[in-house]
Amino acid sequence: MTDDEYGLTEETAGAPGDEFEEIDVRDTEADKIARTKDREFAEFRKRLKDTEQFKLDDGAFDDATYAAIYKLVEDDHMGAMGGPISTGKEANVYEALDAEGGDVALKVYRINASNFQQMRAYLEGDPRFEGLRGDKKAVVLSWTRKEFSNLRRAKAAGVRVPAPLAVQRNVLVMELIGREGDAAPTLSDVDIENPQMAYEVVREYVRRLYDAGLVHGDLSEYNVVVYEGELVVIDVGQAVTIHHPNSATFLERDCRNVANFFARQGADADPDDLLSYVHEHATPRAEADTAAGDRDGTEGSLDRGSDADDA
Ligand SMILES: Nc1ncnc2c1ncn2[C@@H]1O[C@H](COP(=O)(O)OP(=O)(O)O)[C@@H](O)[C@H]1O
Ligand SMILES: [Mg+2]
Repeated sequence: MTDDEYGLTEETAGAPGDEFEEIDVRDTEADKIARTKDREFAEFRKRLKDTEQFKLDDGAFDDATYAAIYKLVEDDHMGAMGGPISTGKEANVYEALDAEGGDVALKVYRINASNFQQMRAYLEGDPRFEGLRGDKKAVVLSWTRKEFSNLRRAKAAGVRVPAPLAVQRNVLVMELIGREGDAAPTLSDVDIENPQMAYEVVREYVRRLYDAGLVHGDLSEYNVVVYEGELVVIDVGQAVTIHHPNSATFLERDCRNVANFFARQGADADPDDLLSYVHEHATPRAEADTAAGDRDGTEGSLDRGSDADDA
């Protein structure tokens, strides 16, 4: 196994942090489309509603969610909708085709997410989302936007994540990890060939994220997928910046989940050691990650060192 096969190719990028753009979450283009109910959209919605995967799950989408998908198709971010990969508490994940017929994944957040109070708590401590309005729709739309933004930032930091492709209202389009009809399994579902090496890769991911000012917040064997020898971190919607009042607790929990999992697989891993490792080897941005930094992109540069080598 080389570092490459475990996904440790360094992807460098400009200083991340300016990826969050203000959006009007009250009345998105999708809401406008849903409201005008023009014939083309009505037909699109009917076609989509009549496909097998939606017959089974009737009522999962409101009109504006159909409109968001319609808008993504109109804007050439996707082509046809495919079958479901996963049905979760706050979102469903589907396969889809992009405009050229390649594979993508679609994560569709529910506006009626049962745990939206929790979602709000994650958003409120995050300087990127200061001044967020409190209603369900605003929270879920900001959350979707946050996942997109976190994917971008993680990718820029050299963490292997699904490439973020587009976001529209409560719908996120990203790279599909795996093949059509055969999405990649999570770490919890595979036999790990070399647990020690895999652990070191994930440890490096945690370090790189932290270095870029982010804490995943729900990192475990369930949110890492394995594809062609690469470990790919997913589900970054809840990831917070280091300024979030709970970021230290989240980092501790991530380290505990990760180290305990790999220790069970036979790796030499320990939660406290992992946490110390991250603290010792990362230099999270102190100034650059403020709300202002995130909004206008006035970032300090990151000292990432020779990442791939010390894993
Ligand atoms: N980009 C992707 N490519 C392939 N499978 C994915 C992708 N994103 C999510 N999945 C699958 O969908 C499941 C749920 O996605 P996740 O982002 O973890 O949402 P949840 O909040 O429901 O846990 C994952 O466990 C994984 O199996
Ligand atoms: Mg998940």
